[in-house]
Amino acid sequence: MSTRNHSHPASHSLSSPKSPTAIMMDRTLSSRRSQPYSDFDFPSSSSAAVASSSSALSPIPRSPTFLSDDESKTKKPHLYLLATNYISRFGLVKSPCLCLSLCLIFIVFGLFSLMLNSRSFVCVSTYDPISRVSLFGLDGVDSDFGSLGVPWCRSKHGKTVEWTSKDLINGLEEFVPIYEIRPIKNNMYGMGFDHSFGLWFIARWLKPDIMIESGAFKGHSTWVLRQAMPDTPIISITPRHPEKYLKKGPAYVDENCTYFAGKDFVDFGSVNWEKVLKARGISDFSRVLVFFDDHQNELKRLKQALKAGFRHLVFEDNYDTGTGDHYSLRQICDQFYIRGGGHSCFRDSDEARIRSKRKKFWEKAVDTDELCGPHEAWWGVRGEMRDNFNHNKTIISYGEHFQNSRFVESILDVYWELPPTAGPSLTHQTRYDPGRAPPPIVEDGRYRLFQRLGLDRLERSVFNGYTQMVYLQISEPES
Ligand SMILES: C[S@@+](CC[C@H](N)C(=O)[O-])C[C@H]1O[C@@H](n2cnc3c(N)ncnc32)[C@H](O)[C@@H]1O
Repeated sequence: MSTRNHSHPASHSLSSPKSPTAIMMDRTLSSRRSQPYSDFDFPSSSSAAVASSSSALSPIPRSPTFLSDDESKTKKPHLYLLATNYISRFGLVKSPCLCLSLCLIFIVFGLFSLMLNSRSFVCVSTYDPISRVSLFGLDGVDSDFGSLGVPWCRSKHGKTVEWTSKDLINGLEEFVPIYEIRPIKNNMYGMGFDHSFGLWFIARWLKPDIMIESGAFKGHSTWVLRQAMPDTPIISITPRHPEKYLKKGPAYVDENCTYFAGKDFVDFGSVNWEKVLKARGISDFSRVLVFFDDHQNELKRLKQALKAGFRHLVFEDNYDTGTGDHYSLRQICDQFYIRGGGHSCFRDSDEARIRSKRKKFWEKAVDTDELCGPHEAWWGVRGEMRDNFNHNKTIISYGEHFQNSRFVESILDVYWELPPTAGPSLTHQTRYDPGRAPPPIVEDGRYRLFQRLGLDRLERSVFNGYTQMVYLQISEPES
């Protein structure tokens, strides 16, 4: 077991009670079981689940943002009527000065009244972040993270990570200034802030001997890994070398990184890892961090990583059921026996109604039509196990889907989903549905903390890419 200590200035503020020479597993494991999930389950076919979800969501239909256009319009004539009445009275006033003064008073009054009533006045845009604020109450403190249930994968012995929310907050404080100087400012199709932070935090906590990434695009994630571990070698597998993007704009090419790219590209599953790592002096595969952002079936990647002997994996796009271009851990573990797991395709159900309401607010929320394929298949994406950017898809039965989750559970030591950075009333994100996410690191209403961490300095768009990045620890099934 290697005991190298990759010390660098940034590593001191993350308080780990263990010695820096402790093995990676020791650093990440704890017998504490985090329970970040809400008491409310996503409605399943069982009536009890339906009832609890409905109650969780009951404030939403009462929210003024759910006024239909017609309802909002009904308020307009009310103010016009008042103004008309007042003006018609002015006509009776003989003095032009008095009339003018009264006019001014009524204009000021009208504007003031318009300001007060503006939310119920305007037709609410589906993705208008300001109207969304009313979802959280007046001061934005009352959001509904986890209210629809957050499926998660059970690990063999119920272990979870060692780091706490305080560690995450300390990490955020350090990472924001680093993120601000990133070379690729516009990383559309790549990671945004939440996942960049998650990858940086995990890599820095684990302090691996080598980092492998599959799917580099312009090199932003390579840059993030480099910020976490300044001296650690990286192997980056990606069909197109990031240097190719330099011709068109910002990209990142790392000096201490071996690229399996361009003509040297080999898929992760076909690399002879024994040989490649031995050549770099690495014999302990449990001190390697593997990061996947290559949009491949995560079950396939999991099996390949297990076969090679890797233990620490991060998957960037851990898509929720019904979304995404590849079969993900979150999808695999979406099962009836898990909180928030298992779904109903019945169109006249509470679940269907709740889904269509959520869809109006959150771009990535899925309604029942999107969720369900032929024969009421809701697992994966409409019963499909997707792979390779959805270029390959295999229809699987529920039985196969169920067996996949049993296999995953048999090899999982740790499953940890990165929480979103902050609540939507702070970030103004409009894409992921908080009802399907664990509570954020900075909760809605904690604007001063958000500001203290420097998060208010970042552009809003960087918070739109959250897709439940997950950290896994795996080992061979126990006999
Ligand atoms: C979403 S992008 C990666 C974004 C990057 N990690 C970032 O945050 O900036 C996905 C990348 O995976 C690459 N890719 C496609 N097939 C791949 C494969 N089989 N193995 C590794 N990378 C692959 C694509 O070319 C693309 O560059």
